[in-house]
Amino acid sequence: MQITYFGHSCFLVDINGKKLLFDPFIHENPLAKDIDTKSIQADYILVSHGHFDHTADLVELAKQTQATVISSWEIHVWLQGKGVTNTHPMNIGGHWIFDFGKVKCVRAEHSSSFPDGTYAGNPMGFLIETTEGNFYYAGDTALHYDMKLIGDFKRMNFAFLPIGNNFTMGIDNAVIASEFIRCDTIIGMHFDTFEWIKIDHNESKKKFDLAGKQLLLMKVGEVSEI
Ligand code: NI
Ligand code: MN
Repeated sequence: MQITYFGHSCFLVDINGKKLLFDPFIHENPLAKDIDTKSIQADYILVSHGHFDHTADLVELAKQTQATVISSWEIHVWLQGKGVTNTHPMNIGGHWIFDFGKVKCVRAEHSSSFPDGTYAGNPMGFLIETTEGNFYYAGDTALHYDMKLIGDFKRMNFAFLPIGNNFTMGIDNAVIASEFIRCDTIIGMHFDTFEWIKIDHNESKKKFDLAGKQLLLMKVGEVSEI
């Protein structure tokens, strides 16, 4: 698996021969100013919720890449109105088998609307299972006890967890979340982009170290094999 970080909560995961893009927010992110979105290719775009810092580049990149957009029913409907018709609506608790593997939508404890006020359905996280490996993309979420269900029934190679605090869980709760989901390799997201979510990198990594786990903080633009 190969992971490319485009800043905030936006990652491209190359898995099983397909490119999965998560929560595209690039142009409006000053930390991602060096990313050339024109060169981004994707087969699927997975959208956790409607907030601008997860969808600002969604319509443009969906049209550019012709990717299938996987999201809540409400985001799917909103996209039709924007001329994006290659969509696959889902909701929490459901799974679907795609050509790269299985996507299961799981609960995220957050809110979800578009900047224009349109209701965007329930915020979601995604469990991805493929023959090449499994991972969890938590979306924007608080720590919640249902994460234990994931740990009880699934084994994953790594997980993307929000760690920036203020709008989502912070580091201390993310350490507990990593214990709930029984995953030792965590890729941090939703940090440093705004004043409210700036974190101390060394202190954050140390807290995961003390729990016997690894926190990876990728640099914007970084590509890593996992
Ligand atoms: Ni949000
Ligand atoms: Mn957010």
